[in-house]
Amino acid sequence: MAVTMKGKDLVSIHDLSVEEIWQILKTTETMKLRWKSGIFDRPLEGKALGMVFSKPSTRTRVSFEVAIYQLGGYALYLGASDLQLGRGETIADTGRVLSRYLDGIMIRTFDHQDVVELAEAASIPVINGLTDLLHPCQGLTDIYTVYEKLGRLEGVKLVYVGDGNNVAHSLMFAGAKTGMHVVVATPPGREPDADIVRLAAEDAARTGATVELTHDLAQAVRGADVIYTDTWTSMGQEAERERRIVELTPYQVTPHLMLSTGKPTLFMHCLPAHRGEEVTDEVIDSPASVVFDQAENRLHTQKAVLALVM
Ligand code: CP
Ligand code: NVA
Repeated sequence: MAVTMKGKDLVSIHDLSVEEIWQILKTTETMKLRWKSGIFDRPLEGKALGMVFSKPSTRTRVSFEVAIYQLGGYALYLGASDLQLGRGETIADTGRVLSRYLDGIMIRTFDHQDVVELAEAASIPVINGLTDLLHPCQGLTDIYTVYEKLGRLEGVKLVYVGDGNNVAHSLMFAGAKTGMHVVVATPPGREPDADIVRLAAEDAARTGATVELTHDLAQAVRGADVIYTDTWTSMGQEAERERRIVELTPYQVTPHLMLSTGKPTLFMHCLPAHRGEEVTDEVIDSPASVVFDQAENRLHTQKAVLALVM
């Protein structure tokens, strides 16, 4: 049964019900199919989406801008340093003001709490386009891509390898809500945030999913349907790059690691990739790699989210 999501924020996948997540996935599937058949639905005719960016972006910026355009609406790129935010106007006042002009806000920033505050203050839907803590649009796209490639989510073993970061956190929530077996293999000290792990475990207990943390990479990848990695140095962590490379090099995704699963395994990455660091060219350019389909699916998933909430 369809659940109404009009007016809803997308701050964290943890805030969505299982029904809402499946509604997003099914809407994505329909919208992608119709678009591929040359049918252009325009449910957001005349609506405006503001896109606030405090960090760089290729995929998020372009896919959101094209998404709203294809749905009949209009996007405004708002560089955070060009807004009065950069001169001290509060995030809450910014949210109240933007709500008088726009029909939705997408925001990419550093502090997750800023997105929470914006969503509380704004009377229009606020979509988290990445914070230091979470990347929900990516997580939804990722499980859509797994569903598209494997035809199911329940029971799929996805092993995230590398740094326990924002992308890992949203994947844990997405997998936990949809019955997947998510294993996060990191070096000691690079584990995901303990609060996120606890919340994901609570979600998993309700759906039959499992969420497991380990340092033992070889054991983790056995039987993996999907191996997923992301950059070792996220935006804002550049000063730690050298140290991170030393710590994370044993967790590089190599052809040997891909073969050691003992079964056909997909390779996924949210991109941008740092070839030769978290993944080798041989893996990312191999037939097992679905990274560019995954990048394309950002467009389709976000069209579904925008059409449902705006
Ligand atoms: N995956 C992702 O969010 O990419 P961008 O940083 O290019 O938006
Ligand atoms: N973890 C990365 C994801 C980039 C899309 C970062 O935050 O920089």
